[in-house]
Amino acid sequence: MNKPETLPVAQPVVGTSMPHESAHLHVSGAAPYIDDLPEPAGTLHAALGLSPVAHGRLLGVDLDRIRRQPGVVAVLTAADIAGENNCGPLLHDDPILAAEVLSYVGQPVFAVIATDRELARRAASLAQQVIHAEPLPPVLTALQAHAAGQYVLPPMHLTRGEPAEQLAAAPHRLQGSWSLGGQEQFYLEGQISLAVPQEGGEGLLVHCSTQHPSEMLQLVAHALGWQSHRVAVQCRRMGGGFGGKESQSALFACVASIAALRLKKPVKLRVDRDDDFLITGRRHGFDYRWDVGFDDEGRILAVDVELVANAGHSADLSAPVMARALCHFDNAYWLPHVAMHGYCARTNTQSNTAFRGFGGPQGAIAIEMILDGVARRLGLDGTEVRQRNFYAAGQDTTPYGQRVEELHAQALTAQLLASSRYKQRRAEIVAFNAASPVLKKGLAFTPVKFGISFNVAHLNQAGALVHVYTDGSVLVNHGGTEMGQGLNTKVAQVVAHELGLPLAAVRCSATDTSKVANTSATAASTGSDLNGKAAQDAARKIKARLAAFAAERFGCAPEFIAFAGGQVSGGGQSVAFCELVAAAYLQRIQLWSDGFYATPGLHWDRAKLQGHPFYYYAWGGAVCEALVDTLTGESRITRADLLHDVGNSLNPALDIGQIEGGFIQGMGWLTMEELVWHPVTGLLTTHAPSTYKIPTANDCPPEMHVELFGVANASQTIHRSKAVGEPPLLLGFAALLAIRDACAACGAENSDPPLRAPATAEAVLSAIEAVQ
Ligand code: MTE
Ligand code: MOS
Repeated sequence: MNKPETLPVAQPVVGTSMPHESAHLHVSGAAPYIDDLPEPAGTLHAALGLSPVAHGRLLGVDLDRIRRQPGVVAVLTAADIAGENNCGPLLHDDPILAAEVLSYVGQPVFAVIATDRELARRAASLAQQVIHAEPLPPVLTALQAHAAGQYVLPPMHLTRGEPAEQLAAAPHRLQGSWSLGGQEQFYLEGQISLAVPQEGGEGLLVHCSTQHPSEMLQLVAHALGWQSHRVAVQCRRMGGGFGGKESQSALFACVASIAALRLKKPVKLRVDRDDDFLITGRRHGFDYRWDVGFDDEGRILAVDVELVANAGHSADLSAPVMARALCHFDNAYWLPHVAMHGYCARTNTQSNTAFRGFGGPQGAIAIEMILDGVARRLGLDGTEVRQRNFYAAGQDTTPYGQRVEELHAQALTAQLLASSRYKQRRAEIVAFNAASPVLKKGLAFTPVKFGISFNVAHLNQAGALVHVYTDGSVLVNHGGTEMGQGLNTKVAQVVAHELGLPLAAVRCSATDTSKVANTSATAASTGSDLNGKAAQDAARKIKARLAAFAAERFGCAPEFIAFAGGQVSGGGQSVAFCELVAAAYLQRIQLWSDGFYATPGLHWDRAKLQGHPFYYYAWGGAVCEALVDTLTGESRITRADLLHDVGNSLNPALDIGQIEGGFIQGMGWLTMEELVWHPVTGLLTTHAPSTYKIPTANDCPPEMHVELFGVANASQTIHRSKAVGEPPLLLGFAALLAIRDACAACGAENSDPPLRAPATAEAVLSAIEAVQ
């Protein structure tokens, strides 16, 4: 077995562009999602009967009429829930099925279980005729709720310095208000759960498209009145989550589970896209009011800002979303005196939830709008004003008390402005606009600073299991979920690197609560930071045992044993990894291990909104150019230059994919995705792709340059990489501000167009009208 030492010349696995582990399955349509799993014999199908009123007292449901419909096996209401009727993640204010009060149009009131999905849906569609309710006056907008003091949680206030005094003393002052729309996650795979009774009904296996299997387990167990160990939740992959399957997959998991247990049959609940829109919440729309004081150079001296989020009918994740909004209002800027007031308005609409950025974008965009207004008021270039306000040495503490250690904004911005030829293009655009009465161009730069970690310290933990089989192949299981972002690929790369194996030797298996317990949601972009470290810990434990074993055989110290290129070498000898493993097995050496990781150094005082909530920050910058037709209001982003900080990339191809996708999703939110609720009935009228427009390939800027910043993370993250899932969404700000810049070109010098977001054609036209 002892071979002469050969120097392995393997390509490094970490830091190399590798295709997504399922890319070939994704593109060929062969990757199985939950609806593709073979249905167990006897599977029944559920559909939900939805509230036809925005607010009302539930008087009763004509269940007999539903029961008489073809194919219907059972109808369930709140009364059929043995345990707790709640699917709220933090507060217990979110009924699975409405019990006494109807809180929004689309709220599930009953579940029909039928022999097939079509029949279940047909029966459920009688909801309007069978639900009897006494209407109550609804509150449909956040500002209406704010005026009435109606919130899902107490207001949050975060203050530093003496904002009132400094505002009064400032040489310039600007007051404004602004309205920002919400955003639908539009995961391509809709919400779905398949619940399969086990062990004669003593256990339950739930296949659920979810970012948070452990929470699904808990909520299902509570709804059934069971202990957690009777439920297992599995998810191999999601067809996208984007935050929409962090908490809100629970309602579907709970209904399928309750029905499966009641009927002793597998039950599948796959929601139709329209119902998905009507039932689930999305990114919170925000309304802002600000008062800002600044000097002649555009430096912010003091700012007072009110942020009103439309929380919808229940709290869901609104508290941490608002906390993250408040912790991102500073974006990349030093704000010496600041007062922020966050309100989560209770309205009779879907309960809003996580969406890529988790409130961070809604916080940061407010300061970008403010700086844009300040620059226009002073007749200065918006980019220069931004650069003057960047965090710098000595001015590097956030309003919530965390020091910003890596001050990357200056260098990153300088690099981006040079590579995008910002200055020259600014001059070219001024010349173009002077000669073009109908078409106008605009240009904008915006920076990103995004805090990485869950604001709540205890969520920053992860576990993993690594199995080495006797043939040397490796199976990894970790607590994170795969939703297209490439988490499994990155974690497999980390494990392959530790054991010195090619990537093909390592596979990740489906996320399963019965393998790794008490996991956190795959959210806050922490998937690879947390699970990568946990898997590395597990791999290192196995490696240490194998190194000790090899050292004995090779007659050298374990620290001289190296794992690389599929070989294990030391003391002038080398053996194939698979051979060493086979020999170790015969010597009864444990070839599998668990691993654990908890992010160090985090603390957060939730009451005072102070502490060190983030392990580090991810930085970025975008320059966008827009072309606007001032007669129709149509716009398009003609060029985007993105420079983004991912530390030492674990996989540049995947990271660039996340940057492109995040940017386009942010651009879509701010420029075209419009949610419209009927002002009287409260029905979400834009509940399908026919009326709700997400960006397509045609909307991508024809010229797009994406670069990685390429500086190692100063914090001890996995291979000094940085999280990349959410921060690039904020790059999309530059798209909105470029359109705003083009609108400003329609007015007199220094005009400040009141452009709301999304900047649809209507919004653009009315902004142009206002400045003309
Ligand atoms: N990328 C794809 N393709 N699909 C998704 O659903 N979700 C985003 C982001 N990128 C998402 C995605 C969100 S909201 C988060 S929090 C992160 O991925 C989660 O994964 P990560 O922590 O592994 O980056
Ligand atoms: Mo992402 S919004 O944290 O799921």
